[in-house]
Amino acid sequence: MTSRIIIAIDGYSSTGKSTFAKAIAKELGYVYIDTGAMYRAVALFALRGGCVSGDNAVDETALRRLLMDGSPVDISFRASGPGGGSETWLDGENVEKEIRTLEISRIVSHVAALPFVREYVDRRLREIGAGKGVVMDGRDIGTAVFPDAELKIFMTARPEVRAHRRYEEMSARGHSVSYEDILVNLSERDYIDTHRETAPLRMAEDAVLLDNSDMTVEDQLEWFRDLLKERNLCG
Ligand code: DC
Repeated sequence: MTSRIIIAIDGYSSTGKSTFAKAIAKELGYVYIDTGAMYRAVALFALRGGCVSGDNAVDETALRRLLMDGSPVDISFRASGPGGGSETWLDGENVEKEIRTLEISRIVSHVAALPFVREYVDRRLREIGAGKGVVMDGRDIGTAVFPDAELKIFMTARPEVRAHRRYEEMSARGHSVSYEDILVNLSERDYIDTHRETAPLRMAEDAVLLDNSDMTVEDQLEWFRDLLKERNLCG
């Protein structure tokens, strides 16, 4: 039986990373960590702290002061039911719904591009991952946060498929959004995430590519089980 490992899942926005990551965490009895939620919580913190102007520009100095010098912000995850999911808490408040709005999606890539924000989040993620037995999804888990992760998967899908999935997800949550706005937001975030200076989104050399445009969740799980067997991982 192989010991517990770190599984890093990176890829573009709305490629179904969290659905896939949650499903494999459940199958293996691992903890699932949605690292984008941590950036979203920092974006909400910045918004509430008055560090974001009307054109989504982030006041870096003010946010740095708020994040570093004030009483430390507390972002944590708490399990939510038996499905392997978790909810995000910010300073003692459940903000799971607030961090999923299009308003936060418009700010979050700008906030996530700031090196001191990444340092703050990376520190928290490394603490959480130290015990292994985790599946983390994000943009730089296999390249920057855990470059020695035993298994790295890079996810992609066609842009229309991704926009459609995000549209369905947001509508189901009761957000009123247009498909076109989502498509625009996705392509803007792809651009910022792949072009930022610190830890840009890219596929690690030792990652396995998963294009799930035409795959169901069950297809993806089958693919994953074959991969584990092939690599002789996780028993
Ligand atoms: O996965 P998501 O869409 O919830 O992520 C929100 C944003 O956070 C995304 O636009 C980029 C950023 N992010 C990041 O820079 N690094 C990560 N590890 C995870 C997310």
